[in-house]
Amino acid sequence: MEAAAHMTQKTFTVTDPESGRSSALPVRSGTIGPAGLDISALHKDLGVFTYDPGYATTAAVESRITYIDGDAGVLLHRGYPIEQLAEHSTFMEVAYLLLIGELPTAKQLEEFIGNIRYHTMINEWLLRFFNGFHANAHPMAMVSGVVASMAAFYHDTMDIHNPRHREIFAHRIIAKLPTIAAAAHKHSLGQPFIYPQNSLDYASNLLNMMFAVPCEQYRLDPVASKALDLLFVLHADHEQNASTSTVRLAGSTGANPYAAISAGVSALWGPAHGGANEAVLVMLEQIGSVDNIPKYLAMAKDKSSHFRLMGFGHRVYKNFDPRAKIIREMCHKVLAALGRSDNPLFELALRLEEIALKDEYFLARKLYPNVDFYSGVIYSAIGIPRSMFTVMFAIARTVGWVANWQEMIADPGMRIGRPRQLYTGATRREYLDIRKRV
Ligand code: CMC
Repeated sequence: MEAAAHMTQKTFTVTDPESGRSSALPVRSGTIGPAGLDISALHKDLGVFTYDPGYATTAAVESRITYIDGDAGVLLHRGYPIEQLAEHSTFMEVAYLLLIGELPTAKQLEEFIGNIRYHTMINEWLLRFFNGFHANAHPMAMVSGVVASMAAFYHDTMDIHNPRHREIFAHRIIAKLPTIAAAAHKHSLGQPFIYPQNSLDYASNLLNMMFAVPCEQYRLDPVASKALDLLFVLHADHEQNASTSTVRLAGSTGANPYAAISAGVSALWGPAHGGANEAVLVMLEQIGSVDNIPKYLAMAKDKSSHFRLMGFGHRVYKNFDPRAKIIREMCHKVLAALGRSDNPLFELALRLEEIALKDEYFLARKLYPNVDFYSGVIYSAIGIPRSMFTVMFAIARTVGWVANWQEMIADPGMRIGRPRQLYTGATRREYLDIRKRV
């Protein structure tokens, strides 16, 4: 059952050793997970800020959407474990759950899918934007640019304080992201754009738009559609990660939601975040064979090399990433179903995981494979090119971004996000005329 965070009876008192002044900081408790020390009075009481690089110990929001216990490897969406959703649900149902808060009835789900299908086409003018990109533009650059441009098309439904406008935006962006992604892919190939087919399910429609050509019949493989849908379920939301926090921060200014989602796409692209799935494949190809694993592990441990084992480690998971476990199992099944069980990249990834997890460096730092370690193997097996991996992540995570944006905008206590800093620059000095400078 959901409940708002509440103040407990507990307080922590912080005392300034010089002035003797104190600040009593109350403790806020959620439904599960660690409580949060409410430091909002600290600056007023004692004139100091808190310092927390990378926000590693800072909860900046209250949220009812997703819960992670990183030590136990638990991930819950609206209370439902990811393992159960992966086994029984679909991406559209998980999208409804994340956005609305409850699992839908059959009728509600049908209605929701109908709403998404209604919006799958993109305006022809928007389609022309792709012509401004070079054929070798990275699809993430095209997707983030085109998503931001959507704000130019929907002036009459962009009042962020109107719940119906917010709902239309949610349906629109979730429906159009696959169309935009496929258009970016077709642009890279120099092939004609393929229009959405509303008779197809979400994942199949995307595969059709990416791989069909006007001159030939394209046969959709149900194994590929099912695998993609499951990957979307596993990537749909992940609490206050860097891209979701970016969407919240951009949205907290009152910026239009397309701008906020575009900011999220850009933040996701980095190799420390969603860009890792592409980077893992590059790394596996570089490693090439099991014999080279020790050399690359040594590089990953060497702080001067700037090389990291991509797809390993996580800010929150310090035991295992439950999504990685599911995807590893999925790799076996999908590759077998596609008749490609002897996949050398998968074999190499398995050996790399095995060797790294016996290594003291990775054990001591609790570095385990994350969601991105095996996902690229599946994307490759179903024909998705490497440059589109992070785009796939963006399509799925759009649901989480929208759910978080909706939650923030609907919150009457919403404030602009505005972190503070510890200033370490020059102290006050006087302007010197250019002729007197040496
Ligand atoms: N390879 C080698 N060393 C690592 C790695 C890695 N992949 N990840 C962390 N470390 C080391 C790091 O050097 C540090 O060592 P030391 O304590 O000696 O200085 C220690 O482990 C702690 O790392 P951190 O950088 O403080 O951890 P973080 O929480 O700031 O970063 C991370 C988390 C995911 C950015 C990082 O583990 C990483 O860069 N991993 C590789 C990229 C990756 O796979 N990203 C996908 C993340 S999951 C999906 C998503 O969020 O999109």
